[in-house]
Amino acid sequence: MKSLKLRVPGKLFLLGEYAILEPGSQALLLSFQRYLQAEIAPAEQFWLQTDLLPGAVNGFGYEQGQIVWQTPEARPSEKLNFVGEALQWAFAYLESLERRPRPFRLQLHSDLHSSGAKLGLGSSAAVTVAVLAAVLAFHGEAFESHEARLKLFKLATLAHSGSQRGSQGGGSGADLAAVIFGSVTCYRRYDASWLKPGSVSLNKLLEVNWPLLGIEKLPWPADLGLKVGWTGLPAATLDFLEEISYLKEKDPEGWMRFLFSANAATAAARSALIEGQNAPLLQAVGQYRHLLQELQMEFLSPIETPALVALSDSAEALGLAAKSSGAGGGDCGLALGDPALVDSVSERWRSQGVEPLELALDFQGLCLEEG
Ligand code: PMV
Ligand code: MG
Repeated sequence: MKSLKLRVPGKLFLLGEYAILEPGSQALLLSFQRYLQAEIAPAEQFWLQTDLLPGAVNGFGYEQGQIVWQTPEARPSEKLNFVGEALQWAFAYLESLERRPRPFRLQLHSDLHSSGAKLGLGSSAAVTVAVLAAVLAFHGEAFESHEARLKLFKLATLAHSGSQRGSQGGGSGADLAAVIFGSVTCYRRYDASWLKPGSVSLNKLLEVNWPLLGIEKLPWPADLGLKVGWTGLPAATLDFLEEISYLKEKDPEGWMRFLFSANAATAAARSALIEGQNAPLLQAVGQYRHLLQELQMEFLSPIETPALVALSDSAEALGLAAKSSGAGGGDCGLALGDPALVDSVSERWRSQGVEPLELALDFQGLCLEEG
């Protein structure tokens, strides 16, 4: 068995964040040519090496369904929770196929971080998918077909929500879909209420249709400019998920109103992409910015931080459509419109402390090569 290399792109929400937490809602996501890379090769025992923890090489074993780290200090820190969970679920999947994991050395290298800080390009989703795909590919699984990717998505969802906070309360899974499928991913949130790992075999759980789940690839217009800006401030999505739980309880009607408008804007943008109409797409982006501004009124800390306000206001002043991306509170925002105007936004952003990132769209998603 030779070594295998793979890469998983970073991602951003174009539209649909927050609403996508509700089953049946839709979101549009973009992935970018900035990658989390993995290399996996046969070894005498299990090794993990990653620049997510500088210099660390961690040996581990797999005993009675559990990953056991060789030395206590080698136990992944919080940052590496995602790696541990993904390894655990990859091994559980192999076991459900009655296959014994063969020892390997897994190396992870991230370009989704800048000097150790996450850029807000979905690094936790990329890590989860990279670890699962590497271990499974090492044991002979292929990921070319839509069906195989869908199965990987389901496994990634279980692993990712395990490292967040249980299968019901974690993220929407949109980030996982985006990094597996590439630009442009239209994702429809599954209904997690029936999903009880342990009630059926893992293999079966990955085979069955998940209610409401939908993943569709859409085209991207060649004549549309897009620029991503980084606020330099990493944001914790989990804090914002708590805000949403609170809001849903306190003001269920307000949440419902948000959902209706948010899904209408996302549906309009989806149609615009399919029909190659830029104007309604840009309009939907502007609308979504307003919806997020309304939503954040009840939040303790805003979705649109001062840097994100500056990012969107200066882009709008140029005649572009702009918004924060994802949970907000920092991380990134994006601006879209006439390519000539998009180029001139960088200067304005820099003067306001927003760093323009040179990012091209990735249309492939997860990509494997044999080493
Ligand atoms: O900031 P991000 O990229 O982690 O996006 C979070 C988006 C939410 O809709 C708020 C949560 C989710 O899991 O979709
Ligand atoms: Mg974020």
